[in-house]
Order: sequence, then structure tokens, then C-alpha cells
Amino acid sequence: MSTYQIEVVTLSPTAFSSLDGLGVIGRALASGIANISLYNPRDFTHDNYHKVDDEPYGGGAGMVLKPEPFFDAVNGIPPSSKRRVLMMTPQGKQLSQEDLWRWSQEYEQLVLLCGQYEGFDERIRTLADEEVSIGDFVLTGGEIAAMTIINGVIRLLPGTVGSSESLMEESFSDLLLEHPQYTRPAKFHDLEVPEVLRNGNHGEISRWRQEQREIRTKARRPELYERWIQKELCPNSKIDLNSSTDLDFCMRKDFDQNEDPWWE
Ligand code: 6GU
Repeated sequence: MSTYQIEVVTLSPTAFSSLDGLGVIGRALASGIANISLYNPRDFTHDNYHKVDDEPYGGGAGMVLKPEPFFDAVNGIPPSSKRRVLMMTPQGKQLSQEDLWRWSQEYEQLVLLCGQYEGFDERIRTLADEEVSIGDFVLTGGEIAAMTIINGVIRLLPGTVGSSESLMEESFSDLLLEHPQYTRPAKFHDLEVPEVLRNGNHGEISRWRQEQREIRTKARRPELYERWIQKELCPNSKIDLNSSTDLDFCMRKDFDQNEDPWWE
């Protein structure tokens, strides 16, 4: 197996050392499943002050990251034919599990650009294939977003976590939240483990778990539940189920015109 290469361009390279101590991720890095290389744009400056930012054209508060150190850092990274360059910014498309699957399977080299301070020169954007946000909130820099992506991609690489079958299973049901889990003791304070999990009937247990996942998702994440329902009805659809709610396009594989409609 070839090593999945992760290149991070960041003004705070030490932030990434904590990944080595993260159980599953630390082991994947130690065993060579993935490798992280760090590039500090400050090392690509040529002035005595190693200046990476400057005042904004047009005036205003705050500083703006200069383009040259970022371009020189990125252009110095050894290339791969299967490279994807991602820029971390709250203005990007919100990260999803589908993105993590795509980057883990279709590429061998991920370049993660981390902005910082108030902003970066607009021309730095032209280095990126995609812009990524991890949610609608603002952080001081892209480092935590980059670590989120590194964690999420590495756990999908072969040999990192569990079996590939369990990951495949997860991918088919990733729109549903997990069911509740219990371990011993059967009774803790006045809280008891549900009887169904203790009777050893595996059919009943897996039905109960599936039902719990659906109940939980419907209650906590109604928009996820809606997407799951549509994917169930129309698994091979290329229709964007995030935006379309038109069920007329969707039919089960075993659709029977004479059957009573499922929604009545
Ligand atoms: Cl990618 N960067 C920053 N600075 N803040 C964020 C973010 C990224 N995603 C959400 N908030």
C-alpha cells in the first residue's frame, strides 16, 4: 500500500503535533498508512522580518496574508498526479462525509491551505481546487478545520479502523444517527439496559437498533431524516436530494403500480 500524503500549509505547524497522540490516527501515521508534511509560509519569505501579512489595499482594520509566501510554499511541494488542493475558509462549502470519502478514494495527496488572522489575499484562492468550511461559525484560523479533515480522511483509509465491510455499511447508512449502546452493568443507579438487548435474539436486536436510529434521527435531525427517506426510496438517483423534495421522481426498485402507496 502506498502512503496517503497530506501536505499542510500553515503558520502554526506545531498545532498538528497533537494528531500523533490521537489513538487511531496516531497509529495510522506511525505505521505509514498516511504521512503529514508541514510547510510554514514564513519559511518562504525573503525579508529580514519574515513578514507574511500586510495592510489591506483600500484601508481598513486588520492585516491580510500576502500571496507570495503561500504560492512559494505550495509550489515547493513535491507533486502527485492524484492531488487535491483544499483551502480552509468559513466561506467554503460545508464539509460532509461524502467529501471525506471522495478525497480518501480519488486522491493520493491532499494539500490543505490554512488561512489565519482577518483574511488572505484573494489571489491565494486560485491555488485551491475546493474551498471548505466546517460549519457556520468563525475560528481564528483554518488549522482546526484542517485537523478535522485529516482525522475524517485517515479513518477511511484501508487498514486504519475496523474492517472495510463495517466502513461500507457505515457509508450506506451514514445519513442516520447511531443507535444507543450499553455495556455492563445491566442496572446502574436506577437506569436499566433495555430488555431486548439482553435476550440474545439477534434478529430482534437489529430491528430494535434500526428503529432507534430512525427515531433518533427523525427527532434530532429532521432534515437528515428527510434525505435518508429519499435515498431509501431512490437509491441510485442522480437527482440532488438535498434540494429536491419531489417524490414523483423517486420509486423503489420493486415498485408495484397496484400496491397501496407507502405514504397512505
Ligand atoms: Cl475552514 N476556517 C475558519 N477560520 N473558521 C471556520 C472554518 C474555517 N470553518 C468554520 N469556521
